[in-house]
Amino acid sequence: MTCAVVAQKGGVGKTTTLLGIAGAAWERGLRVLVVDLDPQANATAALDPANTAYTTNDVLADARPGVAADAIVASGWGLGVDVLPSERALEHRAVPEGRDSALRLRLALEGVIDRYDLVLVDCPPSLGELTRNALAAVRLALVVTEPSFFALPGAAAALEAIEVVRGSSNLVLRPAGVLVNRARPQTSEHAFRLAELAAAYPDLLLPVSVPERTAVQQAQGACVPVQAWRSQGAVEAADAYEAVLDVLLARGAEAVTDLAVSATTTFSTGT
Ligand SMILES: Nc1ncnc2c1ncn2[C@@H]1O[C@H](COP(=O)(O)OP(=O)(O)OP(=O)(O)O)[C@@H](O)[C@H]1O
Ligand SMILES: [Mg+2]
Repeated sequence: MTCAVVAQKGGVGKTTTLLGIAGAAWERGLRVLVVDLDPQANATAALDPANTAYTTNDVLADARPGVAADAIVASGWGLGVDVLPSERALEHRAVPEGRDSALRLRLALEGVIDRYDLVLVDCPPSLGELTRNALAAVRLALVVTEPSFFALPGAAAALEAIEVVRGSSNLVLRPAGVLVNRARPQTSEHAFRLAELAAAYPDLLLPVSVPERTAVQQAQGACVPVQAWRSQGAVEAADAYEAVLDVLLARGAEAVTDLAVSATTTFSTGT
């Protein structure tokens, strides 16, 4: 299953969410690949690979089928979590370059994806060329937002970007949903924004939100999954990520079934 984590806005918790989901999958013993498509390389830093000789910058420059395999390294989290690291120079690939430039990641990952149970792609805080590359290479896209005034327009913009890529270069792409991060359920602002999102996206708003917990930042700083951190806050965050992973796996399976049904339909109407 492949999933990109996207948002139009910076700092809403894309990378944190991706790491939380990767940690939940790691805890279940799944084989996970994290593809860092953000020149800030925050996911790479938190996953602490020993070696980052080749990065997504090199991979997108080359873009031969399957070439991503050469850049993948083991993360510092231990067995089961690999990373395709990023670096600042990836910034140079944030503008389109020739025909099919948004399909470079998909090509580079050809045959590589099958070696993992879960491939997660971290995106920069923009819906530009790098995010389009991510969306062209995956089946699911998870939209992350904070429960703020900007939540609704931000989610709308991200969902629109998903629809554009689905219509142009990736028919199998589906939104995995809208996830509220840094939830503070005891505040009235949170309740208001959550209700607003639920009214706009009754089917897409995830039934679980990720709470704001210091442990999430502490685990990041220590380069370990939050699932390995020992505190009440870490347990609460880990429970939320567990539930998010369940939603992703379920929606991923639904997407595959949809596809099989539509292929059968196309086939039978064509004969
Ligand atoms: N649930 C949470 N609880 C506590 N802190 C959080 C939570 N989610 C995110 N943060 C913190 O908020 C900051 C921004 O999060 P993060 O880097 O994941 O956002 P981002 O959307 O990936 O940002 P960017 O757009 O720059 O890539 C980080 O310091 C992170 O540790
Ligand atoms: Mg980030």
